[in-house]
Amino acid sequence: MSDEENKFPGENNTGHFWDDDLRELDNEPPAWWTIGFHASWIFVIIYTLLYPSWPMIDTHFKGLLGWTSIDEYHKDMKSIESVRAPYENKLKDLSAAEILADDDLSRYVTASGKVLFGDNCAACHGAGGQGNVGFPVLADDDWLYGGTITDIEASITAGRQGIMPGNAAMLDDAKIDSLAASILDGKVIENPAYTEAGCIGCHGADGKGLSFMGSANLTDGIFRFAASDQLSSIKHTIKFGVNDASNPKSRNAVMPSFGGTKLSDTDIKKLAVYVHKLGGGQ
Ligand code: HEC
Ligand code: HEC
Repeated sequence: MSDEENKFPGENNTGHFWDDDLRELDNEPPAWWTIGFHASWIFVIIYTLLYPSWPMIDTHFKGLLGWTSIDEYHKDMKSIESVRAPYENKLKDLSAAEILADDDLSRYVTASGKVLFGDNCAACHGAGGQGNVGFPVLADDDWLYGGTITDIEASITAGRQGIMPGNAAMLDDAKIDSLAASILDGKVIENPAYTEAGCIGCHGADGKGLSFMGSANLTDGIFRFAASDQLSSIKHTIKFGVNDASNPKSRNAVMPSFGGTKLSDTDIKKLAVYVHKLGGGQ
């Protein structure tokens, strides 16, 4: 385009016009932009030289620093393990009770016990040991099998399976109703049927249960087989029992065993301490 046709002669425009006076100028880009542009390609070259980068046919350029993410991960793991090692070594030789008595160790164990609990126990007992219908609360001080650290460790290692035979054949509905009502009132030991029907043999003269067989305390108002309508639930338990193999309507209450190949001794100790510290340990 000649200067005659250029409506803005002497200006460094490119000769492209729109709408009469809108035009493209040929200025240098601003300095900040040019510096940024050169800095970024220099950065890319240096970065790709130092770190693993360019793909090649069956490998890739490894980078002058020899850095890999897996090495970094291994290094981090080693440093974590070196922090853990002194603890883990001690745990092997100590009993759960000794670990519990040591503030530093039991704090360490509670942290790792939480993860183990989430992986192995929370599905039944709830994330914080708060229990579920049919699965006992582990965070209170009401225990079927006892709440000492040794009791808890035994529950986890060998599992538990309390057995109560159903009474449907032995007791008529009126007796079952009256037993259930007095259990709900916390006064079952005053009910003559308690002794006559042999409940006393397992639940004890005081009605508080015997921890060696896991028979429930019938006087504390804590029931674990229903979320509501405890009266009907208690009647059901009395009629059909707990883990009574001959009775399809029986309550199912099986705590699996975690000893042997399932969890290591150290993991079981960690869990015992963790459960003890949930709040109800004795
Ligand atoms: C499949 C479900 C299930 C899983 C998983 C389970 N439990 Fe249990 N647990 C039970 C049941 C059911 C009982 C009650 C057994 C009974 O009534 O005889 C129980 C009882 C217990 C008791 C005794 C409670 C008391 O009152 O004396 C402890 C302690 C316990 N579980 C801890 C654990 C720990 C720790 C884990 C994880 C390692 C775990 N449980 C995993 C179902 C489970
Ligand atoms: C052979 C021992 C045995 C006898 C006999 C027995 N029980 Fe039980 N009972 C148990 C066991 C074990 C449990 C289960 C505890 C658990 O797993 O929560 C249980 C649970 C219960 C529960 C449920 C408690 C809850 O937490 O919901 C009730 C109610 C109950 N028994 C009432 C009775 C009554 C009433 C009698 C007498 C007619 C009786 N039991 C006879 C062993 C026995």
